[in-house]
Amino acid sequence: MAVAAGLPTVQVEPENPLAAGLERQPVAPTILVIFGATGDLTRRKLLPALYNLAHDGALPGHFHLVGVARREKAHEDFRSECEQAIRQFSRRTPDDDVLKALLEHVKYVAGTFDDHSVYTRLAKVLDDFEAHAGEPLNRAFYLSTAPAFFPVIIEQLGQSELAHHEGAEVRLIVEKPFGTTLDEARELNRRVLAIFDESQVFRIDHYLGKETVQNIMAFRFANGMFEPLWNRNYIDSVQITAAEDLGIGTRAGYYDQAGALRDLIQNHMLQLLCHVAMEPPVSFTAEEVRNEKVKVLQAIPQPTAADIPEMAVRAQYAAGHAGGEDVPGYTEEDGVPADSTTETYAALRLEVDNWRWAGVPFYVRTGKRVARKITEIAITLKPVPHLAFSQQGSLGVQPNQLVLTLQPNEGVSLRLGAKIPGTRMIIRPVKMEFLYGTAFLSQSPEAYERLITDAMRGDATLFTRNDEVEAQWRICDPIVHAWARTPGPLPQYEAGSQGPEDANQLLREGDHWRAI
Ligand code: BG6
Repeated sequence: MAVAAGLPTVQVEPENPLAAGLERQPVAPTILVIFGATGDLTRRKLLPALYNLAHDGALPGHFHLVGVARREKAHEDFRSECEQAIRQFSRRTPDDDVLKALLEHVKYVAGTFDDHSVYTRLAKVLDDFEAHAGEPLNRAFYLSTAPAFFPVIIEQLGQSELAHHEGAEVRLIVEKPFGTTLDEARELNRRVLAIFDESQVFRIDHYLGKETVQNIMAFRFANGMFEPLWNRNYIDSVQITAAEDLGIGTRAGYYDQAGALRDLIQNHMLQLLCHVAMEPPVSFTAEEVRNEKVKVLQAIPQPTAADIPEMAVRAQYAAGHAGGEDVPGYTEEDGVPADSTTETYAALRLEVDNWRWAGVPFYVRTGKRVARKITEIAITLKPVPHLAFSQQGSLGVQPNQLVLTLQPNEGVSLRLGAKIPGTRMIIRPVKMEFLYGTAFLSQSPEAYERLITDAMRGDATLFTRNDEVEAQWRICDPIVHAWARTPGPLPQYEAGSQGPEDANQLLREGDHWRAI
């Protein structure tokens, strides 16, 4: 796929100091098969990501896309739907030539996922593409369906002998959620690994594809000044926030079954915690990085029934005011049962019981319909041991705080104490700031662009390994069960607010939640 002449290009992979010296495998010729090809994720994220990869010349010479979904439709109709989705959701205005070239290689297979004939027809489409290319083509099967279909599709791929292919690589990309309990995750892993080898499997957590999340590692391990401070001797607490101003929109069917703990904490937020707490990997390879993350998860004690009221808080949004308008409460949203006890806010206090972190609280919180959208990690250092200034001068001295803002206004800021100009020694906090937007003028690729190419390339560094996903569930599972046993009513917080008062119960004396 060539980039149309004269189009501006951006650097697809900003140079990563950790990857320096590591050879990036080229993307081999591939057929990408998306199950759930007419779903929301495909339209909003996957197709626009593929277009932008095509635009950057980052797709292989031979690239084909096959959409699989239930409804009957002609290849041509599916192509028009793809075009419409790309025009609506791409981060760039599409170039007609690039788009046309991409869509020429798109086909559609209709049928229900448990119907064996779907896989026979799919195999024929794959073989035809290959015969036309005159060489074996790698195959990547992307499961972007409701999770109930994951085992069905995997089994059918196995029975149809599509899980392996002579002379080429076959890969399986699995969307979240990977199970809804620890038992389900284990069972799904068992079924996946009965057909595929772990090296073929790419479990998606789209946070890992975000530039700013990868930058946490660059920031920690490419700068010598932080490592000596990065431990319990200097760090007082860590606070990780993923707040959203939006409600659940049209996703009631999924969300009411999931809730905030499963939707964001079990996956994205525990991954952020791992990036903060992990030991430096020996090299930036999939196994080394994932080994270190698993060690962090294993060092977090599994909550007991007695711990849970002390370390976990949940709540639900009530009607309020957000984005300049009055908005309904969660149980008044379309599709949500009036007596739903699903949490839209969850906060945990976790500990990482190892040599580096023992005794440092990791506060983690997420909520829908709070004051604004912000994802950040705030690392608060211990206060200075002694103030040499007069009592009056000491007013306003606060511990140093390092804040990594993942979105929006991506950047890093460090809170320092500085003297206010004047004749007296009065200190107040000031911020030293680095902003992505001004330091790098190029637009960051979307997470899915990076993840799709990495999966096609066979690089699993930014994907969750089987033991890692189970280790994440090990922490959340007891809370999921405890909350299910004591259904409610849940504490409420007003839409557009800072979240529930109850979240303060988790904090040590003197700690406070940062303003959202
Ligand atoms: C998804 C959740 O995984 O992540 C959504 O299902 C959530 O509920 C989204 O809104 C947040 O992602 P981002 O990239 O907007 O932070």
